Amino acid sequence: MGSLHVITHPLIEAKLTRMRDRRTSSPEFRALLKEISLLMGYEITRDFPTKTESIETPLCRADFPVLKDGFFTIVPILRAGLGMVDGLLELMPFAHVGHIGLVRNEETHLPEEYYYKMPEGYEQSVVMVVDPMLATGGSAVDALTSLKRRGCTNIRLVNLVAAPQGVDAVRAAHPDVDIYVAAVDETLDENAYIVPGLGDAGDRIFGTR
Ligand code: PRP
Ligand code: URA
Repeated sequence: MGSLHVITHPLIEAKLTRMRDRRTSSPEFRALLKEISLLMGYEITRDFPTKTESIETPLCRADFPVLKDGFFTIVPILRAGLGMVDGLLELMPFAHVGHIGLVRNEETHLPEEYYYKMPEGYEQSVVMVVDPMLATGGSAVDALTSLKRRGCTNIRLVNLVAAPQGVDAVRAAHPDVDIYVAAVDETLDENAYIVPGLGDAGDRIFGTR
């Protein structure tokens, strides 16, 4: 069974509070999302395997840990997931990036896929699906299903803010997937927005509303 990791840290909490504030501008919102993604990356990668390598320091030669060679793919769910990519790439410049385009139908609240583009060989890689918002869970469940259908077996999901309903939906459909979040909020409203949440993440990142 995958685990739910709620990454609590004073820096992450304080930055997330600023993101929630309706007065926060798009440039600041984007910068905060990038910073939090980088900080979350520290926990997301905690179990990445290492091996030892012989290194010569200015004083002597000795064995030290380095990351084991591996293939890592960051997969933002478009659009809002894009806001988490730069922070994670700063931490993992060796990672590749694939994209899944999903948009929620505003009436049914169900996700519709409009784009899918992955790096070659990604099926064997550690895949990190990123999206700031996990609301009903429909988008995340669809993205994970798409990736598994194409052969991915090592997937983790990274969200900034989740609703309990979204966490339950992902755990029911994909019990093997570890979920990393900075906060689990109270509930969803009648439009399936997370409450208290931070509003529409895509619109706030890109200034589209
Ligand atoms: C938002 C968000 C998630 C999805 C979450 O995207 O970025 O992808 O909704 O909702 P769910 O858990 O109920 O599926 P949206 O569809 O608004 O598209 P956008 O990122 O292009 O704005
Ligand atoms: N998508 C968002 O951007 N925000 C929500 O609260 C729910 C879905």
